[in-house]
Amino acid sequence: MAPHAVIAIARRIRRRLTAPGPTYPLRLAILTMLLETFVFLRHQLTLATTARRELPAEPLRLNLGSGSDVRPGWLNIDFMGDADLLVDLRRPLPLHDRSAELAYSEHTLEHLDYPTDAEAFLRECLRVLRPGGVVSVGVPDGEPAIVDYPSGAGWYEHWAPSFPPRLSTRMERLNYLFRQDGDHRFAYDSETLLALLHRVGFTDARRRRFDPAIDSAAREDGTLYVEARAPLAGAGP
Ligand SMILES: C[S@@+](CC[C@H](N)C(=O)[O-])C[C@H]1O[C@@H](n2cnc3c(N)ncnc32)[C@H](O)[C@@H]1O
Repeated sequence: MAPHAVIAIARRIRRRLTAPGPTYPLRLAILTMLLETFVFLRHQLTLATTARRELPAEPLRLNLGSGSDVRPGWLNIDFMGDADLLVDLRRPLPLHDRSAELAYSEHTLEHLDYPTDAEAFLRECLRVLRPGGVVSVGVPDGEPAIVDYPSGAGWYEHWAPSFPPRLSTRMERLNYLFRQDGDHRFAYDSETLLALLHRVGFTDARRRRFDPAIDSAAREDGTLYVEARAPLAGAGP
């Protein structure tokens, strides 16, 4: 079955299971169990078959959480869709140490629990990067929504056409940025994201500008981009 058909069916099941009603908490728990079971089995299947597969020549450029942004010449990794490697980014990656030059991730880190899964994921990025290799991360920028909250202008007016119509108050919209109906697990500002990168062992973490060579044009607006380096061999912490 084609990936988009699977996703369409999964969405329909999800809509049914998340409809309001007295059994909503139980249905949500069942949905989570089904999704986690699917992700676990898919990861195991990939582990069982990856050893036999030919991965692109090193050093790799990794697109982590590729979604529909599957990039030719990159190793696209996601737990669903048309990725080259279908694995759970919360678990160790089936890649060799120091095999990548770039670990790139756009609008995915916010889908991982913070700090547990976010740290585990970035530690894996560090492990698979060669010394001096770059981790580059883009996430929804949480800061403007906080800064503009008192006025309700700026961020709130700018994004008004994009919010689901059911969201009308500033607090509903702020929560949507942070939680996105449960899909988002954490909202970042640059201070938190840079501290996280340093904490897992990256160096030279800094905010960077949108880079049309690697970033998606559709993501420029509203995205906080940062990058950092894996320490050079022999460099101390
Ligand atoms: C909002 S989409 C971003 C896709 C793409 N990078 C872009 O910017 O359009 C988030 C992606 O992260 C993937 N994802 C979320 N959690 C994941 C996990 N634990 N393991 C693997 N992929 C995950 C989702 O499947 C989805 O494709």
